[in-house]
Amino acid sequence: MPALVLLGAQWGDEGKGKATDLLGGSVDYVVRYQGGNNAGHTVVVGDQKYALHLLPSGILSPGCIPVIGNGVVVDPAVLLSELSGLNERGVDTSKLLISGNAHLITSYHTTMDKVTERFLGSRKIGTTGRGIGPTYADKINRVGIRVQDLYDESILTQKVDAALDFKNQILAKLYNRRAIESGKIVEELLTYADQLKPYVSDTTLVLNNAIDEGKVVLFEGGQGTLLDVDHGTYPFVTSSNPTAGGACTGSGVGPTKISRVIGILKAYTTRVGAGPFPTELFDEDGEALRRIGGERGVTTGRDRRCGWFDAVISRYATRVNGLTDFFLTKLDVLTGWERIPVCVAYEIDGRRVEELPYSQTDFHHAKPVYEYLPGWSEDITKAKSFSDLPKNAQAYVKALEEMSGAPVSAIGVGPGRTETIEINSFL
Ligand code: GDP
Ligand code: IMO
Ligand code: MG
Repeated sequence: MPALVLLGAQWGDEGKGKATDLLGGSVDYVVRYQGGNNAGHTVVVGDQKYALHLLPSGILSPGCIPVIGNGVVVDPAVLLSELSGLNERGVDTSKLLISGNAHLITSYHTTMDKVTERFLGSRKIGTTGRGIGPTYADKINRVGIRVQDLYDESILTQKVDAALDFKNQILAKLYNRRAIESGKIVEELLTYADQLKPYVSDTTLVLNNAIDEGKVVLFEGGQGTLLDVDHGTYPFVTSSNPTAGGACTGSGVGPTKISRVIGILKAYTTRVGAGPFPTELFDEDGEALRRIGGERGVTTGRDRRCGWFDAVISRYATRVNGLTDFFLTKLDVLTGWERIPVCVAYEIDGRRVEELPYSQTDFHHAKPVYEYLPGWSEDITKAKSFSDLPKNAQAYVKALEEMSGAPVSAIGVGPGRTETIEINSFL
């Protein structure tokens, strides 16, 4: 089992942090491969709760080496404050490795993110405002600043100048904002250089050597499949590739090394930000899912939009990620409903559609076709094995598995590490 990927199968917040933490104790490396501090991964260990944004959840497992891969965008101020926050709580962060090729989020990226959203008005994406999109845009436009640039002042200055030449025109002429001084940005970035230096390394080499030595590497996705810039509900997506292929490009580990791709799947659906969401609920059921599931954003504090499980989406996630299995989370939240609707197909302009439509127009017109599964009322939070679950909860899991096209290997019945039913071992 050299390398495995764990990623979000829906619109993010599926419980990736908990799942990663659970495996963290048994793997050698946990690698973030895309996204940045737009992520909010919650890990509950005993009575301690951690909210991680940029750091891989493996940082909480003492034997594990956390890695920030080249595909991640790094806000150095956020990274340092996250590290010191963990240090204050007694977590050893000294093993962290950061790719020198990862791109830096600067203050002009967060400014651009916010002004662009304001400019879009009612067409806005509802981003996290963390500068993610503008930083990836600069990377693709080849005017980005990388971690390694912090160690050559002359190159750093040239690059920041080049990036701001164009942006200042836009800021001043289009958004009516004051231009940003290049010198100030360089000065600020240089203050991070020494503090980050001990962590910076050639992570591609480290990871490939580790795999060759038989070590186990776990890739931890941020966001989710439907937020993928290529495979998600574009343009209401993030600006990176959370899907399985992103683990390769975002780390420099080839696909032949990856033997398992685990989709983290919530037993219902949530979404933060704008964009289509066929099973979204606007009634008391939606309110109940939000309340019982604690569905409030870890990063922005926004209420999450809530809806029933959508099997069209989970089938799609199986397809575009080549999922080998699922970790089904938050089954406990569904306790108490007499019957639970599950979306099995869409009706689009009078037609029944079984697969996610590739056309944005069709997806915006999609109406859920529901099947109703019998619910359960027993408390399942203490269940340790599949057979401990009430028959209807077992049937719900089996139905989701059947509809989604991959087996469920673990079930979350509470936020804590131990509140998990393991069906097949992941390692
Ligand atoms: P991530 O972004 O995918 O890591 O997920 P978040 O941390 O943003 O949101 C998931 C939330 O659900 C967190 O508050 C977790 O503590 C919580 N959680 C994870 N798994 C379970 C579960 O099986 N049951 C319950 N009740 N909560 C869970
Ligand atoms: P985790 O890793 C849920 C959403 C934002 C917005 C869109 C684009 O915790 O699952 P961005 O700031 O990335 O440009 O915003 O993506 N989004 C998330 N939604 N969970 C996340 O991360 C998200 N990260 C970004 O709400 O709709
Ligand atoms: Mg989250």
